[in-house]
Amino acid sequence: MTDALKQVTTYELLKMKERQERIVMLTCYDALFARLLDPSVEILLVGDSVNQVLGGQDTTLSATLDQMIYHTKTVRRGSSHALVICDLPFLTYQVSPTEAMRNAGRVMQETLCHGVKLEGGRSMAPTVKALVDIGIPVMGHLGLTPQSVNALGGYRVQGRDDVTAQRLKDDAKALEDAGAFAIVLELVPTPLSAEISKSLSIPTIGIGAGPSCDGQVLVLHDMLGLNDRFSAKFVKKYATLADDVRKAAEAFKAEVRSGRYPDADHSFAK
Ligand code: KIV
Repeated sequence: MTDALKQVTTYELLKMKERQERIVMLTCYDALFARLLDPSVEILLVGDSVNQVLGGQDTTLSATLDQMIYHTKTVRRGSSHALVICDLPFLTYQVSPTEAMRNAGRVMQETLCHGVKLEGGRSMAPTVKALVDIGIPVMGHLGLTPQSVNALGGYRVQGRDDVTAQRLKDDAKALEDAGAFAIVLELVPTPLSAEISKSLSIPTIGIGAGPSCDGQVLVLHDMLGLNDRFSAKFVKKYATLADDVRKAAEAFKAEVRSGRYPDADHSFAK
């Protein structure tokens, strides 16, 4: 019998950065996938992308705290090794640090997850500090921050010029100083994410941010080839499950129509 894997901690992630071991993170929205993914990853992120991937919405903006709590509870039920992080949805942490503490506290208490993720840099630093001060681990998120997609003018690479690149570097430093345990860098050019990763003692987790980050994350349904309505340069498909699902549905249909299913093997004689 193999030993059960130990629960990943934020401390272990720091040590992985020190040892230059790359951190593996995937999004996950339910207990079934959590069970399948748990041994392979350090972090399961219950991303507010659930609102798009499973909810069929165009953006993450309409995700609610109750929705995130529901999905995070299910992911916790399916995992025993990975650190489970819940995205704080739009408007649950931006209004004031006090509101953020209440909402993030509710997430921690009701889901038993291990931390929260929020978007934004220097302006969010006091909120990050307030959460960390009451014992809530915080993962930051910089670069393309999907909750600000309307202000950013679309899903575009960030930090391409000197001014915005400097802003991102300052934001990353501010999050580290405020106590964040890691930072997601989304859609950032490789040289910039390399510079930021090198300058921080906390790990960076890249998505569309090149190979120099301390870890990588992809949206599960994209990398499984299940969400075939979304494609992007940075998404690598490790399976083509949408095709398998369609083929299975057509095979089921053919057998039901022809009467081949259910046969004796799948029926009860008495
Ligand atoms: O919501 C999400 O899935 C995310 C990842 C893209 C990092 O924030």
